[in-house]
This record gives sequence, structure tokens and C-alpha cells, in this order.
Amino acid sequence: MSSDRKPKFRSAEWFGRTDRDGFVYRSWVKNRGVPHDQFDGRPVIGICNTFSELAPCNSHFRTLAEHVKHGVLEAGGFPLEFPVMSLGESLLRPTAMLFRNLASMDVEESIRANPIDGVVLLFGCDKTTPALLMGAASCDLPAIGVSGGPMLSGKFRGQDIGSGTGVWQMSEDVRAGKMPLEDFFEAESCMHRSHGHCMTMGTASTMASMVEALGMGLPGNAAIPAVDARRNVLARMAGRRIVEQVREDQRVSKVLTRAAFENAIMALAAIGGSTNAVIHLLAIAGRVGVPLELEDFDRLGSRLPCLVNLQPSGKYLMEDFYYAGGLPVVLRELAEAGVLREDALTVNGRTIGDNVARAECYNREVIFPYAKPFKPAAGIAVLKGNLAPDGAVIKPSAATPALLKHRGRAVVFEDIDDFHARVDDENLDIDETCVMVLKNCGPKGYPGMAETGNMPLPPKVLRKGITDMVRVSDARMSGTAYGTVVLHSAPEAAAGGPLAFVRNGDTIELDVEQRRLHLEVSEAELAQRKSEWKGPPQHLGRGYYKLYVDHVTQANRGADFDFLVGRSGAAVPRDNH
Ligand code: FES
Repeated sequence: MSSDRKPKFRSAEWFGRTDRDGFVYRSWVKNRGVPHDQFDGRPVIGICNTFSELAPCNSHFRTLAEHVKHGVLEAGGFPLEFPVMSLGESLLRPTAMLFRNLASMDVEESIRANPIDGVVLLFGCDKTTPALLMGAASCDLPAIGVSGGPMLSGKFRGQDIGSGTGVWQMSEDVRAGKMPLEDFFEAESCMHRSHGHCMTMGTASTMASMVEALGMGLPGNAAIPAVDARRNVLARMAGRRIVEQVREDQRVSKVLTRAAFENAIMALAAIGGSTNAVIHLLAIAGRVGVPLELEDFDRLGSRLPCLVNLQPSGKYLMEDFYYAGGLPVVLRELAEAGVLREDALTVNGRTIGDNVARAECYNREVIFPYAKPFKPAAGIAVLKGNLAPDGAVIKPSAATPALLKHRGRAVVFEDIDDFHARVDDENLDIDETCVMVLKNCGPKGYPGMAETGNMPLPPKVLRKGITDMVRVSDARMSGTAYGTVVLHSAPEAAAGGPLAFVRNGDTIELDVEQRRLHLEVSEAELAQRKSEWKGPPQHLGRGYYKLYVDHVTQANRGADFDFLVGRSGAAVPRDNH
């Protein structure tokens, strides 16, 4: 090592030194057999790994990381893999969303505090994707995302069954007495039969698509199945590319521009993606400093058609989507319709327009043309009114068209425990014309804003063959779920939002065409109710729960922590050297 070598990359502050500290930095890393020539000033690439057996969707990530490493080495970089908190949607309680911001802090501080010049982000299960993007955006080093890929299609007695979506359907059948428990148990083994994340167009697949639409992943990132060899090739190519990104100083902020977010919003509409993406995109934009409002989703996306016939809005699964051509086909349709911001830069150094210019569709049953879409005007709609002054969202493509304009009597559940205690009660005063209202499931109220918004219907309604009712809450909904479900009402009930003051028997009006969510109660009466309101009890007065409840923002601001909004860059604030 030359003593007069000029540091070129950030990592040289550690590995390029000739003093005692340089000895320490290099010597400890050598303990696993790293040759001295790896410290010659080449880019050091962090591989940010969310592997965990407690996050089953990410349990193949050791292998994926090895493929990334091959790519980094081939391109002349020095790979260093590191773990961050992983968030498994299926096991974490009370909800993985509670920990998204915590994981993002882990990512941000792990990158900043270490000798990393660029980072490959390995994510899969729902919250791992936004958590890693948020953390990386706040550091603003070169970064590239690699999703773990969806599972193979579920197969049960000759039928395709989709993650989540199939569970919701079958559990309703069990509750209605139409499916025996033995069949329900058998379906468990048939649904998730390979590595990968949920293979419906749920939140994980939606966010993997957002990574590609934002330009933060290589073309094909969204849909290649986890167990397809081409997923490993994509990981390897990402490993090669991140080394070039470092050499080009292609930072996150050069990719995550306003144009990139606009493309993501349009892609979200065109894939019939999860409402959770609204919250995550708002949070990611907040980290990188791009102005993005809830209303942008309605303005840019709601009139766009859904092109993709995938569960939960349609029939097929992510494996079918990949074989049909995947997200590049959808983006090409948007480009040819003249709506895509084609000039947006992507991580491979090309524009998104260039990336998708030659995309071909191989199955028009799965990906429809823009001119003859699967569903018209299917993007997420943003509702306003005295029940959601700061907005609420609904996914019309997953709703019953006849219910998109509806007036009904409110049946109110004060929180999720109240809901569970009473929904199966045969004496519950409810029928299919009512509006089910669930309070205190927002960011502060649950806390963590659980996916409880798609409340299961009461058995006595289900037995009539009714499969949908209007439901209103401050909660989120699983991306694999469906129904006429109004979500993310802001401000939430626990923060004193108007949802807190709804009472049984009130009339609620939903008019999606007019973007209206209205509680037919006078201002004076609402003010009276507010004066009597005491608020829900605090869940826990210490630790991370307290930090979360004290600092989480509302859904219309991405439910990030107020003190995490923005970016600090990669400089170590107080370096003792
Ligand atoms: Fe991980 Fe669905 S449980 S993506």
C-alpha cells in the first residue's frame, strides 16, 4: 500500500490509512482470510442482508448474497455482507409495520458507520423493502436493490391458490361452514411450497415492482421467481453494477427523483398494487427530500387502468406475471400511452424508457394492453371529508363496484379487541347495508397501524352469500386482501381524528367518484363528542413502543418518525480521527 495514495472512495478513510488505525481496520477484517490486495482502494460494497429464518420470505438470502458477492468480485469490488433487522410479516407481533422505522434506522446507521462505498439492498418480505430503501436514502450512497423474488404459485387440488388472498377466502369459507378444517390445514402445505415472498400482487410483490419502477432495481426485479436461476443472475448482475455505480458516484438521490416517484405511482395503478405502497412511497420520498403528497397518488394514478390480471384484483399469480413478460411490459405500455416519465434514470445507468423499450408481452390474459385494460380507472383513490380531513385511501380495483357509492348505518368497533369480541355474535345489530367502522388501529392507536382494515364480515352476513361490505378504519390492509375497504383515515382516532367520534347508528356516506367520505353528524354534535373524548389507553409507556407512539407521523405523511424525515448523507457526524 502506498503511503501517498489519494483516498478515492469513502472506505479509504478506514482501509487506506498507514497509521495505527489503518492497521486495526485492516487487520481485523483479514481474520477471515482476506488478502492484503483487497485493501488497494477498490470500492467496498456492503451487502445489506435481511436474511432470517424468522422472516420466511427472506430465508434464502444467504444464497442470494453469495451471488451478489460473485458479481462484486468480478467487477473488482470488495464485498462485505452485514445483517440488519429483518421483518417477517407472517410471524412478527403486533405487526411488522411497527418495526419498519426501527429497521430503517438500523440500515442507515449500519451503512454510515462502516467503511462502505456502495450498498446492495437485499429485501423481500413486505416491510424489508421500504425499510432498506428509507435507510439507504437517508445515507445517499450509491445503492441498488435486489428483491428475493416471489414464491412459485400455490397449488391446491388442481387449483392455483395465492398467498394471503387464498387464506382470506378459505378462512371465510371455514367461518361460513363451507370448508372443513382438514381441508384448510391441507391447503397450508400447498400454498407456500418454495422459497420467496407472497406470490400474489400483495405488498411484497408491489414493493418489488416499486423498486423496479423507481429505477432502484435492475429490469426484471419485480417478478423473477425466487427459485428461478435468473433471480441469482439478477443478484450477480447487481453485484457487478454496484461497483460501477460507486465509480460513477451514482447516488440514491440521482435515481430517486420526483420523476421516479411519479413512475412508481403510475406503475402502482397499472399493477393494481397494494395500498401499503402509498405509505411506503411517501416515507421513502420524505427521506430523500422529494416532495410527494397523498393527493399525488390520486392525481397521477387514479385515472390509470389496471393492466395486470393478478390476485387479489384478478386471477393469476406472480409466476404467471414473469412468464408474461413482467413489469417491463407494464412500463412499456405506460410509456407508449405517453404517461411514463421515460427520462428517469435507473440504477443500470440507463433511463427507464430505454430499459423497457423492447419489452414484449407473451400472455395478454395476464398483462392487458393499455388500450384494452383489465380494469379501467383502477388506481388508488384518495378520499376526503369530515371523516378523513387529511385523507383516506381506497383501492377501487379490489372493491365491489356497486358499493363504491353507498350510504349506510355505522356499526362501530372501538378497537381490534372489541371487534374480535363481537363480530361473531349472532345478536350483533348488523346487515350488509351497514358500514363497519374500526377505530384505534392507526399508527399510534394499534400501535404500528396493523393490517386490520379488511375486517372479516359477520358470519350471519356471510351465510347470506354476501362477500363484501363497506368498511372504514384508520388501519392498513394486507396487499393480498380485497373488498370495499376505506383505509388510512387521517388523522387517526387515537390522535383525536374524527373517526374517534363515530357512534353506532350514525350515517356514513362513501362516494368514491366524488372522493367523499362523510359522516352525517352536525359540526356542533361532533364538537360535543370531542369534548367528551378521553382517548385510548397508552399501550406501553417505555422502550421502542414509546418512541414510536411519540414520534410516528400520520399515514398521509408515510408514518415515518418525525425526526427521521430527510437525509443526513454518509459523513460520520463525529469522527475521532
Ligand atoms: Fe412475507 Fe407475504 S409474508 S411477503
